[in-house]
Formats: sequence, C-alpha cells, structure tokens
Amino acid sequence: MGRRKLVVGNWKMNGLRAQLGEVEAIGGLARDHAAVEVGLCLPATLIAAADGVKGGAFIGAQDCHMKANGAHTGCLSAVMLAEAGASWTIVGHSERRQDQGETDADIAAKALAAKAAGLKVILCVGESLDVRDAGNAEAVVSAQLLASLPEGAASDWLAIAYEPIWAIGTGRIPTMEAVATMHAALRAALASRIGADADAMRILYGGSMNGDNAAELLAIADVDGGLIGGASLTAEKFAPVIAAAA
Ligand code: PGA
Repeated sequence: MGRRKLVVGNWKMNGLRAQLGEVEAIGGLARDHAAVEVGLCLPATLIAAADGVKGGAFIGAQDCHMKANGAHTGCLSAVMLAEAGASWTIVGHSERRQDQGETDADIAAKALAAKAAGLKVILCVGESLDVRDAGNAEAVVSAQLLASLPEGAASDWLAIAYEPIWAIGTGRIPTMEAVATMHAALRAALASRIGADADAMRILYGGSMNGDNAAELLAIADVDGGLIGGASLTAEKFAPVIAAAA
C-alpha cells in the first residue's frame, strides 16, 4: 500500500495578506517534513500571493465552479484557480452542501472540472448528528460518496475526506473505533466502484483534528491524513499535526 500521508489545512473564510507569514511558516514546516504531503486550501484572494511563499506546501482552493467560464457572476472556475497558483481544490465540503445547497451531482461535476484544469481534488463526505444517532452512518456516508464520486476517479488525482458534520469546529470527535469503521467502509465502497486502486486512494479524517488528537487518529489503519480547519490557521497550531503525520 504505502499511502503517503496527506495533511491539508482548510482556512475557510479566514485569512488576509497579514496572514501570509503563517503560510510561509507552514511552508517551512512542510519542507522539514517531506515524508508528509502538506497543503493549505486558502481563500481564493490569497492564492496568488501564497504561491510565492509556500515553501514545501501546496496551495489549494476550497471550491470551484463546474464550468470553465461563462455567465456565473461571483464564481471562480478551476482554470482560474489553477492559473492563480492552486494545484488542488476541495469540493463538497459540508458547509457548501448546506449553505450553497450543493448536490452530489454538482460535486461530481466540480471534481471533473477541477481534474480537467489540472487540479487534484479532495472530495468531502460526512454525516449529520441525526444520522450518526440513528446508527446507520456508514451506509449513508458510503452512499453519499458513491453519488458524489466523479467518472474516472483515481488515486493519482483524488482524495476523500470523511468529516462528520457534528465534529466540525465543535471540539467533539467520534471514537477511534467509529473512525476506523467508517474509513474501512468508505474504502470498501471505493473498491466496489474503482477496484484495486481503492487501496491507493487517500482517505482523510476531518473535524476538530488538532495537535492533541492527531497522533491517535493518524495511527488508524485507513486514516491517510487529515483536513484541518481551526488548527491549521497558525504554524504553531498546525506544527504538531504535521509532526504527528510524519
Ligand atoms: P475543524 O474544520 O478542524 O475546524 O473542525 C475541519 C473542516 O471543516 O475541514
């Protein structure tokens, strides 16, 4: 197998030019931990400037439109994000599924548009607390993954992030056993669609991952990295997560 750990910060709607020093410091951490693939998915307004100070990290976007251009006021295409300096993008984050009403089909289309522009993709899935409490989270999230998975999904350009919605920004995380069960279920779902390449696809955990819990989460067999919000906003907070992955 030998999946290289992938640790990605998601800055969400945070970050001004004053924070480029943090990008640079995190880029330095990435260079010092070359065994880990480290990236920062930034507000689009920072991508071009961050590209110049990224060190060993890659710079990513947080979303893209499914079209390459056209009459879509306020939207950004994957082609534009790639030109600005992004090499990855997130698609399907639960905040966009909720706030912007994005569907599984939208997300699959966005992933394909990103691939066509040369971007790698982190596709997010995850259950609500109601689903978790009902006891069928694995089935629901596996179905969500298969419905969002783009045509031609392959480990050389796509990674999955499992992010329980109730764990995002709350300080609550599932038990290690629940994470292990979910990640194994998602890998089995991937195998049902893409066969042996499922073994090589990175499946990240996200939702209140931080320096205190990263080592335990990243030690789980099918956890191949993390998508980190709050704890990626400064090099000081992100450093122990990157070190735990190394
Ligand atoms: P959090 O966010 O680490 O702040 O919980 C993770 C995410 O939403 O990607």
